[in-house]
Amino acid sequence: MAVADTGLRDLRPDFPLLAANPGLVYLDSAATSQKPRVVLDALRAYYETANANPHRGAYKLSGAATDAYHGARQAIAEFLGARDAETLLFTRGTTEAVNLLATGWGQAHVHRGDRIVVTRLEHHANFVPWQQLARAVGAEFRICELTKDGQVDLDQMRALVTANTKLVAFGHVSNALGTINDVREIVKIAHAIGAVAFCDGAQGAPHLRVGFDALGVDAYAFSGHKMLGPMGIGGVIVRRPVLEAMHPYQFGGDMIEFVFDGDTTWNVPPHKFEAGTPNVEGAVGLAAAVRYLDGVGMEAIRAHEVALTRYAMKQLAEIEDLHLFGPTDVGTRSGVVSFTLGDIHPHDVSTMLDVDGICVRAGHHCAQPLMRALHQSATVRASFYVYNSTSDVDALVASLQRAVARFHAGA
Ligand code: ALA
Repeated sequence: MAVADTGLRDLRPDFPLLAANPGLVYLDSAATSQKPRVVLDALRAYYETANANPHRGAYKLSGAATDAYHGARQAIAEFLGARDAETLLFTRGTTEAVNLLATGWGQAHVHRGDRIVVTRLEHHANFVPWQQLARAVGAEFRICELTKDGQVDLDQMRALVTANTKLVAFGHVSNALGTINDVREIVKIAHAIGAVAFCDGAQGAPHLRVGFDALGVDAYAFSGHKMLGPMGIGGVIVRRPVLEAMHPYQFGGDMIEFVFDGDTTWNVPPHKFEAGTPNVEGAVGLAAAVRYLDGVGMEAIRAHEVALTRYAMKQLAEIEDLHLFGPTDVGTRSGVVSFTLGDIHPHDVSTMLDVDGICVRAGHHCAQPLMRALHQSATVRASFYVYNSTSDVDALVASLQRAVARFHAGA
């Protein structure tokens, strides 16, 4: 199926799982993306040509593994717009990155009486670590609410970010509603009183050009598996002053300088924060993924997703009893459409769609505080990426219409 209507060539043949399953309509890329052949090839090539433990051997093969690992770091940092690749710390993904910051930076710098501000949109991974840090040290944990349109209420944010605020943590893009946050404005609010601004980019980095150096945030986390890379690799870029003020999160090999009987000194970043044998395979695979994304072009990907989202919102609005959540303006949302369908439970909707080969996520989307504010226990979420087309949207809409008819016939 050509997708010329969004300006992007049909990329489905590049993805072995999709190519092997022509009937599959994969609309759950916000949960995890499919992988292009170039990523799978890069993993195989690494193991066939360069596999050894990096940093540890004086022999050439270990050097090749070290080069592969740090070459990948360089490529990913460049893709995310960070000139200083050594400030990119690899983690298992965004969740581990937030926990690294909450422990390595938060426990040392957030104290009783300080304030942490998050938003109502946050995924549990950017909510619970800060909530628990606040509880542990006796800090205030405050939540910035949303406007009726599902945007962060920036006026309330300005009021909440008081002189005792140490950290403002917010997502680039909401996984549940698709809202794109005004990162620069939130950073401005945080920096006006000297707070650290942390951005969860799990749903941003796969879809928007990040431009870390120009964005202004103090730290930006991402997950490789949502951006065409393997699972188990991701990271966080941390601006030098914050990085220098961070304590190690995990202890072990590689992160030390000298170990004495009674004390230990630390290696320099990024090693200080990467204890143990690293996930070289994951880094290499993610580097291949970002090269692929760069080849397609992040601007072209954004234009494609805007076109698909606009098309989907228009079609979905015509389905009886379908309620769409999130911003009405496609310019401020990513390729995520979250909805309920009358009184059919979202899990039942998802099961009915699955009968037609359509994969969507149904549930609270790891955003229970948001769902509670929306007075919903769950929604259905369809999310788009580079390999989707308007025919996928047509299949979704037709299947939803059949579900409504079947439900009414059985009711
Ligand atoms: N965070 C992932 C999602 O939104 C798992 O589905």
